[in-house]
Amino acid sequence: MQPDWSRRGTGLTPSSGRNDGDIPGHTNSSEHLAERLEEAHHEASRSGLLATSFGILRGNAVAQSKSLNVNGRPVEILIDDPEMPLLYALRDHLGIHGPRFGCGLGQCGACTVHVDGNAVRSCSTPLSAVSVDQKIVTLEGLGTPERPHPVQKAFIEEQAVQCGYCINGMIMEAAAFLATHKNPTEAEIKDALANNLCRCGTHVRIVRAVQRAAKAA
Ligand code: FES
Ligand code: FES
Repeated sequence: MQPDWSRRGTGLTPSSGRNDGDIPGHTNSSEHLAERLEEAHHEASRSGLLATSFGILRGNAVAQSKSLNVNGRPVEILIDDPEMPLLYALRDHLGIHGPRFGCGLGQCGACTVHVDGNAVRSCSTPLSAVSVDQKIVTLEGLGTPERPHPVQKAFIEEQAVQCGYCINGMIMEAAAFLATHKNPTEAEIKDALANNLCRCGTHVRIVRAVQRAAKAA
């Protein structure tokens, strides 16, 4: 039998024959929610945690200092979790917004940065995996508006961009690739960028830009 989703109540619970649509044993009344929050608060206090209206936060988390070398500069940030992705440290703590959040799963390439010259997915690289001795370079550190990196220059000259969301990853991946491949074929360039996704379909211009950068290098 098809569930009847037309009943009101919670709006999520199909009709069960009861007249409030609530989950059995529970009620949505504000008094009951207030009671439950109060209970949670007492429980949290007993265990050294802090309850909020959104849940329970650890009140005794100790922020740690993390040193990094970003774009040629030593930086220090305070973090609660050493497993936090490098991308969050760059964007949220250091205000470096070249690396983008795309998939957050290491699958699209939008967040790519260089660590010791290698193209790395910063969304899936925990801070614990990066030491102060390693050189992190982002799109901002690759070149400057006055002296752009050859790959940045080629992307501008080829106008290899539509929305631009993927371009950080395309440039960082291509720059790392060209550093070790001086005269790549078109097939090698496509292979190197195969795991960087572009939803706008700018691939033809992107490949042309990397070929131009390779010739200029
Ligand atoms: S956001 Fe990192 S690979 Fe997609
Ligand atoms: S230019 Fe829009 S995703 Fe690549």
